[in-house]
Amino acid sequence: MVVMSSSATAEECLVKNDIIFANRPKFINAKHLGYNYSTVISSYGDHWHNLRRIGATEIFSPARLSATINARKDEMRCLLNGGNEVEDEEEATEFRELMVEVAKKSGTGNPADYLLILNWSSLGFERELKKLAQRMVGFLQKLIDDHRSKKLQNNSMIHHLLSMQQSDPVYYTDEIIKGFIMVIILAGTDTSSVTIEWAMANLLNHPQVLKKARDEIDSLIGEENLIEESDVPKLHYIQSIMYETLGLYPAAPLLIPHTPSTDCTIGGYDVPSGAVVLVNAWAIHRDPKVWDDPESFKPERMDGKEIDMIEGKGSIMPKAHSLQALCKARPIVNKVFY
Ligand code: HEM
Repeated sequence: MVVMSSSATAEECLVKNDIIFANRPKFINAKHLGYNYSTVISSYGDHWHNLRRIGATEIFSPARLSATINARKDEMRCLLNGGNEVEDEEEATEFRELMVEVAKKSGTGNPADYLLILNWSSLGFERELKKLAQRMVGFLQKLIDDHRSKKLQNNSMIHHLLSMQQSDPVYYTDEIIKGFIMVIILAGTDTSSVTIEWAMANLLNHPQVLKKARDEIDSLIGEENLIEESDVPKLHYIQSIMYETLGLYPAAPLLIPHTPSTDCTIGGYDVPSGAVVLVNAWAIHRDPKVWDDPESFKPERMDGKEIDMIEGKGSIMPKAHSLQALCKARPIVNKVFY
């Protein structure tokens, strides 16, 4: 295993030698949760390119994102209203359980991925993974079937991928679609919520920052309005808060492991093909040689209470203790929601 802890070596891997480092190690969780390495965690080549092309044009392009904006708005309103508007309680419970299990098993928790000699120790882990993958596949297939039978809304990402399936059934198989949904859920859910939690904790620790953020929103959006996605580019100060949070509390502090497809030299050291390469974004973002006062977002006291900023363990960097803060709504909120 090799850890890159400087921006220079990270750049050498991910910019100068990006193709060599495009592969991911064949970890056991990616085998079972990633359709035998056939989804985004596939080896570099035509299929790898195709998946990223589909991602860039059919899922994450500005046009696709704006086509699904109402779904995100509905979810946000639902969340702000308490998050209880669930149509299918059983499905929601199953999803929550699956997410918790998948998050537990998709981290770096299997020592045999790093030390092959420990292979025997992962048999139980692999059995559990297989069961979990079966449940997850069943859940995702049901989502696809419900969209196919038009039970679910028709402006979703799944609906769009199913329409692509009609024109190119050989490539857009159910498996490819399920693989995409799986990776998006895995990569996009905890990362986003954990980052928002750190940002909120930072705001509570820095009342002067919170005040400035509020002033920006009040002056550019107005107290009576909710922020729209299209407003974000003009909210410069809010964006700086998010960048600082991402820098000091990166949701994936070691990124996702890479592995070189050929022997190479990084920073003067030999890195053999197949080595597990981690990029320590956490250390790079706190490197005093790169940043002035790199720890400036450290916890501070507010109202006599310390809000903890202790970091938990795992590949998704959670707060060690979930943030518990009570938001006191401003009177205007009732006018905005009801
Ligand atoms: C604060 C939020 C997020 C953070 C901090 C984050 C961070 C990361 C990191 C560090 C990687 C690995 C980069 C590498 O090793 O080369 C990654 C990959 C990825 N992320 Fe995110 N992510 C976030 C949100 C999302 C969301 C919302 C989605 C999808 C809806 C998403 C989808 C992906 C995908 C598909 C990959 C794999 C890309 C590839 O292998 O080509 N991420 N993300």
